[in-house]
Amino acid sequence: MNPHERLQLALVEDDLARLETLLAESVIFGDAYLDSVTTHLIYAGGKRLRPILAVASATSGERVATTEDLLGGVALELMHLASLYHDDVMDEAEVRRNVDSVNARYGNLIAIVAGDYLMARSAAIGADLGTDVAGLLARTLAALTRGQVSEVRTAFSVERTEDDYFSAIEGKTGALMASSCRVGALTAKLPESEREALTEFGRCFGMVYQLRDDILDVIATDNELGKPAGQDLAEGIYNLPTIFALRDGNVGEELRGVLGAILDDEDRERARKLVVATDGIERTIASTQTYLAQSKVALASLPSAKLRDAFVSLIESLLEDLPTY
Ligand code: IPE
Ligand code: IPE
Ligand code: MG
Ligand code: MG
Repeated sequence: MNPHERLQLALVEDDLARLETLLAESVIFGDAYLDSVTTHLIYAGGKRLRPILAVASATSGERVATTEDLLGGVALELMHLASLYHDDVMDEAEVRRNVDSVNARYGNLIAIVAGDYLMARSAAIGADLGTDVAGLLARTLAALTRGQVSEVRTAFSVERTEDDYFSAIEGKTGALMASSCRVGALTAKLPESEREALTEFGRCFGMVYQLRDDILDVIATDNELGKPAGQDLAEGIYNLPTIFALRDGNVGEELRGVLGAILDDEDRERARKLVVATDGIERTIASTQTYLAQSKVALASLPSAKLRDAFVSLIESLLEDLPTY
C-alpha cells in the first residue's frame, strides 16, 4: 500500500516532504549516541500514516500546510514511534521497518528510555501547540497504554474474547489514528462538527488498519511485512482470526493444544496453518466492512469532496491486498 498514491493529494505529498525535516530535527539532541538511537527508526522509513491523516485533515489537500499543521503530525508520529520502541521490547521483536529493531540493536533498557524520550518530545511539541493539543495527546497516550495493558493481560489466553480484542485495538491503534485526524482539525481550527467527523473517520481507519495487520500476521510472508509473519501467534497475542479459529468445530481443539505458550518455528507454522484452515480470516475481513461503512458515514458530513474521496480511497486501499471470498 502506498498511501500517497491512494490519496492523490499533491499538496499533502509536498507537505509531507517538509515534515521529514521537522520530524528528524524534533528528536536530535546533540549527543551522537542518543541521536543515533532516537533517529534509528525515523531514517528506516515507515509509511507516515499518522502525519498523512493529520495534514490531510487540516488542509483537505486544498492549501499548503502551516508549520502548526506539520508539527501536529510530528507529535503523533513521535507518539507512534515511541509505542513501536516499547512494543518491540514487549514482543521481543528483532526486525522493524526492515531494519534491526531498537531493542535488537541497542538492548531493551535503551529502547525503553529512548521510547520515553520520544514520548516526551511529542508532549513538548503538543504543549507548544496549545492546551487542546496537549490534552489530546495525554488522553491518546492513556488510551494507547490501556490498550497495550489489556493485550498483555490476555496474552497466551485461549479464552480471549472478541470484546477483549476489540477494546485492545481500539486503544492501541484506533485512538492514535483518531487523534491524528483530530490534531489536524485542531491546528486548522475547524468547527466542532468537522472535528468530530474526522476523529470518527480516524478511529474507523485505525480499526480497519489493525484488523488488516492482524490478518496479514497470519497470511503474509516476512518479506511483505518487514517483520516476521506469525509473530503474534508465537508471542501469545491471539487476534481476531485466532479467536474465531479457537472456536472452530474442526480444528479448535487441536489449536488449543498448540497455543498457550511461546512457540518454536515449527509450532508457529502449525498454528498458522490451523488458523488458515478455518473461516477466521474470512470473518475478520467481514468485520472490517462494519468499520468501513461507519467511516463513510462519518466522512459524508465533511464539506470537502476532495478530502472525502481521498479518505475513502485510502481506507479502501487497506482491503485491496486481502483475499476475497
Ligand atoms: C504499525 O504501524 C503498528 C500498527 C498499528 C499495526 P504502521 O504500519 O503504521 O507502521 P509504520 O509507521 O509504517 O512503520
Ligand atoms: C501495534 O500493534 C500497536 C502499537 C505499537 C501500539 P502490533 O503489535 O500489531 O504492531 P506490530 O505488528 O508489532 O507492528
Ligand atoms: Mg507488536
Ligand atoms: Mg501486528
